Amino acid sequence: MRVRRFTSLVRQSDEALAAAVMPMVTGTAMRRHDTSSAPPVDSDTKLPLVRFESPDQPAAEPVLSPEATVAVTRLLKERESADKLTAAGLVPIRSVLMSGPPGVGKTMTARWLARQLHLPLYTLDLASVMSSFLGRTGANVRAVLEHAQREPCVLLLDEFDAIAKRRDDDSDVGELKRLVTVILQTIDDWTPMSLLVAATNHGELLDPAVWRRFDMRMNFELPSPALISLAFQAKGVERAMADLLAKLFAGQSMSAVARVVDASRKEHVLHGVKFEQALVNAAMEASQQHGMAVKVLRSAGRDLQVLLHQAQGMPAREIADAIGVSHTTVLRSIKSNA
Ligand SMILES: Nc1ncnc2c1ncn2[C@@H]1O[C@H](COP(=O)(O)OP(=O)(O)O)[C@@H](O)[C@H]1O
Ligand SMILES: [Mg+2]
Repeated sequence: MRVRRFTSLVRQSDEALAAAVMPMVTGTAMRRHDTSSAPPVDSDTKLPLVRFESPDQPAAEPVLSPEATVAVTRLLKERESADKLTAAGLVPIRSVLMSGPPGVGKTMTARWLARQLHLPLYTLDLASVMSSFLGRTGANVRAVLEHAQREPCVLLLDEFDAIAKRRDDDSDVGELKRLVTVILQTIDDWTPMSLLVAATNHGELLDPAVWRRFDMRMNFELPSPALISLAFQAKGVERAMADLLAKLFAGQSMSAVARVVDASRKEHVLHGVKFEQALVNAAMEASQQHGMAVKVLRSAGRDLQVLLHQAQGMPAREIADAIGVSHTTVLRSIKSNA
């Protein structure tokens, strides 16, 4: 109050200073800052809270572990046969909780599911909803949840663990807690018409009672070398090279794979570097930055160089000279690459 009075006093003497101070006093400056991560919501359309993707937008198929592939296949089968199941008094899978580290394909799989089912995808980022909670946010989230149950769609609740954190936080305003209760209740009563996907990088933050609310759970893990190789191959890299690159990417996510392939394509287009060469360079750099053991870096790097030269039809002896190793080493590398 005293600050307000100060502002009005200042106004009389200095209009500009008053204008600068006023937002801090009324809190509008903070609010404006808060909303920068989530745009202010139009209370009629609810659109800014939720991202929409049409079923016609192109989407790549994720490269998944055998277990995840089985789960995706089962889910699609049930959703596509919903009428048959319903006629038999059964309910198709309505909700799925995806958990795993960042960059392994949770969002990508949700998108893929939506495309395969020819449904629109709505994505609600719960972390930003929770962190920039404003007066109407609760009502708008509710409206999104209701809308997604009126129109057949896939609704992705991303960063779902934001709910768990809020649930345990005593300092929270009552409205936020009520919203969490509403969301959990919504999962229980979810309509079979739409598919609800929740995704989290922190499954361990969710208590078992929350996990149990979902019809299906999908665990995503960091990809195995075999899977990483398949991801490279899906992006047009030859098998032998993909296998070698996979050794360099042990412990890394699929998004790291996508990043180096993208960067190498750009390097090729913009600077005329041969794609494979750019890929080897980018992969070596990425895996070095990720802390890959020097020994692995050196041997995989050598094998990759041999492979690059070999692909150009260079004989083993010349490869040895070109990359400065012995002829025997080159022969051994060629044999192991085969
Ligand atoms: N399983 C996967 N197969 C192919 N590409 C993947 C896979 N997982 C991640 N990617 C790549 O990484 C990007 C980010 O993945 P995303 O699905 O957003 O990860 P998450 O949601 O698990 O954090 C994707 O757009 C894609 O390019
Ligand atoms: Mg994601």
